[in-house]
Amino acid sequence: MRKPLVIGNWKMHGSQRSVGQLLDGIAGVADLAVEVAVCPPFVYLAEAAAKVSGTGIRLAAQSLSEYECGAYTGEVAGSMLADVGCRYVLVGHSERRRLFGETDHRIARQFERALAAGITPVLCVGEDAAERNVDATWQVLHRQLATVANAAGWEALGESVIAYEPVWAIGAGATASPAQVEAVLVRIRDLLGSGGAGPRLLYGGSVSKLNAAELFALPDVDGVLVGGASLQAEEFTAICRLAVGESWKPW
Ligand code: PGA
Repeated sequence: MRKPLVIGNWKMHGSQRSVGQLLDGIAGVADLAVEVAVCPPFVYLAEAAAKVSGTGIRLAAQSLSEYECGAYTGEVAGSMLADVGCRYVLVGHSERRRLFGETDHRIARQFERALAAGITPVLCVGEDAAERNVDATWQVLHRQLATVANAAGWEALGESVIAYEPVWAIGAGATASPAQVEAVLVRIRDLLGSGGAGPRLLYGGSVSKLNAAELFALPDVDGVLVGGASLQAEEFTAICRLAVGESWKPW
């Protein structure tokens, strides 16, 4: 496995105080051979940037506007994220797709905006339970990937980070089985090619310190995207330790 990438998606949680505490709590991950990024809510990005500066922990955003700049009330541009030091940005998270009506086409434009701003997009793809039940998993994933590739180019997609997040596993307390995860990642890698750097493939959906080791052991997993478990410093640190084969147990 290449240097693993562990991204913590804090979603709409926290306060000025807790952001500082959480970053203090995970400071130890900077010494591990893991690339770690955190996605605080927009309003705490600048503060988090100051805090992680010089630590090696990277900053990421949870979303971005499909527009460059202008009269788009409430939106945040990719250039602004770059300005405060974001290295990554999530694009197409299933909560954005399901709850905020983000379509494949809108997501493709966001992906392009991220690239234009010099930020690596982390494209989230995944099927919901109904789609899996009718064996439409690959059809859905292919559509989600191809729409972005048709806009930004297959090569650009191949150089980004793709997070496979089955919707039915997010926040559900149950991850996809290692066999299910590997089967999907192999197909994504086949589609995008493993030439050059190749895409970095993450798994996301109820990742915890209890299941992370078996996920990292899969040949096509380059890292994980962690939601709920990234809000607890001890748990998130344990996942980062497992990424490099260390035990999280204190004994
Ligand atoms: P979860 O969230 O780890 O809480 O399931 C993952 C995500 O939404 O990226």
